[in-house]
Amino acid sequence: MEKMVVLGGAPLTGRVEISGAKNSAVGILVAAIMVKGKCRIDNVPHVSDIDVLIEIINNLGGKAAFVAPGVVEIDATELNSFEAGYETVRKIRASSYLMGALLGRFGKARVALPGGCDFGVRPIDQHIKGFKALGAEVTIEHGMVELAAEKLVADNVYLDVVSVGATINIMLAAVFAEGTTVIDSAAKEPHIVDVANFLNCMGANIRGAGTDLIRIKGVEELHGGSFSVIPDQIEAGTFMIAAAATHGDVIVSNIIPEHMESLSAKLAEMGVGIEEYDEAIRVYAKDGEPYVAANVKTQPHPGFPTDLQPQMATLLATAKGTSIVTENVWDNRFKYIGELNRMGANISVEGRIATIEGTPYLTGAPVSATDLRAGAALVIAGLMAHGVTEIYNLKYIDRGYEGFEDKLRSLGAQIARRGSGRRAEDLEEETTTA
Ligand code: EPU
Repeated sequence: MEKMVVLGGAPLTGRVEISGAKNSAVGILVAAIMVKGKCRIDNVPHVSDIDVLIEIINNLGGKAAFVAPGVVEIDATELNSFEAGYETVRKIRASSYLMGALLGRFGKARVALPGGCDFGVRPIDQHIKGFKALGAEVTIEHGMVELAAEKLVADNVYLDVVSVGATINIMLAAVFAEGTTVIDSAAKEPHIVDVANFLNCMGANIRGAGTDLIRIKGVEELHGGSFSVIPDQIEAGTFMIAAAATHGDVIVSNIIPEHMESLSAKLAEMGVGIEEYDEAIRVYAKDGEPYVAANVKTQPHPGFPTDLQPQMATLLATAKGTSIVTENVWDNRFKYIGELNRMGANISVEGRIATIEGTPYLTGAPVSATDLRAGAALVIAGLMAHGVTEIYNLKYIDRGYEGFEDKLRSLGAQIARRGSGRRAEDLEEETTTA
C-alpha cells in the first residue's frame, strides 16, 4: 500500500506558491456545463477531485480536459445528458452541484446522492428546499435524486443552515429562472464569490455573493469566456500551520491575505510571527520557545474554517497549556484524533469539543488518514515529530492538495512517497535522492 514517509524535525524554510482553490474549481467546472460555448479556466489545481469531475462532464456529453498545466477547457455546447450515476458521483461531494446545474440547464436532472469525506451525516435538505422553491418536483428513490420542473421561477429562499453547497446549488439552479431569486442567510466563503464571479463573466446576473443576501436575476443564456480560479485558502492555511509547527520561516505566496485573517490572528495569539504582504504571508517562529495554547471555534466564513481544524489541533498538540477546539460545522470531524494520540498527543474528545493538553513533543508512528484535511494534519504531525512517521490512505490527500510532498520537500521537509515494502530506515537516503 502506498504511504508517505516523513522524518520529523526539519524546520520548513523558503517560499511556497499556493495553487488554485480546489473547492472553487469544482464549483466553476460544474457551473461551466450551463454554458453554451468554450470556457477556459486557469489556476485549476491538478488533484483527483478535478479529474473525477472532468470524467463526469465528458460522460455527460460535454468536452473537458486539461490543455496545459493548470488550464482546463470545457465546451458543454453538445452536453446532452441530465443523468449522473453512482459510480463517479459517489467519489466527490461537489458532484451535488450537478443537481443545480443540470436542473438549471435542462429543467431536469437525475443525480446519485453525493459522496465525499465522511464527517457524519451530510444532509442535502437545504439544497432541496431551494430547488422546490424554484418550482422543481423532487423525488429521492434508489439512491438517486430526481428533479423536474416545467419552468423554473424565481423565489425567496431562506437557508435554515448556512451551507456552502446549498448556496452554490441554488445559485446555479436560479441562473436561468424567470425573475429574481433571493438567497437569504447564504454562506459567504471566498469560493462562493468566485463561482458567482465566473457565472457573471459568462453572462449571469448575480449580486451580493460574499454577503448573506444573494440576488440572482435570471438571464436567457450564458456565453463562453476565460476565468482564473482564486488561490486556495485552505492549502495556504495548511502551509502556514506547517511552517509554524516546524518552527520554520516560510513565505506563503500567491494568496489573498484577507482570506487568511482568522488563522493569522490565531497564530499570532499563540506567539507565531506573522507578516502580511500584498499577495503573501510570512510565517516564522520568533524563538525556540513552545507556542501558547489557544481556543479555536470553527464557524462558516469569515470564522475559523472547519477545513483547517485538524491541522490547527495538530499544532496545538505541543502548545504550552490546555487548548479547546470546538467544531461547530460538522458533527463528526475528530476521527483523526486517535491517530494523533498514537503519536503522543494528549487529546480527549466529547461530542464536538476536543480538549488538548499540550505535550512537549510528538513521536513518529504509522498512521492512517481518515479524510482529506486530517491527512494533511497527520503529515504536519510527522514533520513535528521525533523520528519517522508513515502516513497511509493517501488517496484522501490526493483529492485536494496539488504536489503536496513536492512543495514540502522544496521547503526542506524530509518526506517521500513510497510503495509497500520499504523500510522506514531507508528514508534519509530516499529523501536526499528523491
Ligand atoms: N447541512 C445541512 N443541510 C444541507 C446542507 C448542509 O444540514 O442541506 C449542514 C451540514 O451537515 C454541515 C453544515 O451544514 O453541518 C455545512 O455544510 P456545507 O453544505 O456548508 O458543506 P459542503 O458544501 O458539503 C463545503 C466544502 C467542505 C467544507 C464545508 C464547510 C466543498 C466542495 N466542500 O462542503 O470542504 O468543510 O463546505 O465549509 O466546497 C474540504 O475541502 O476538505 C471540505 C470538506
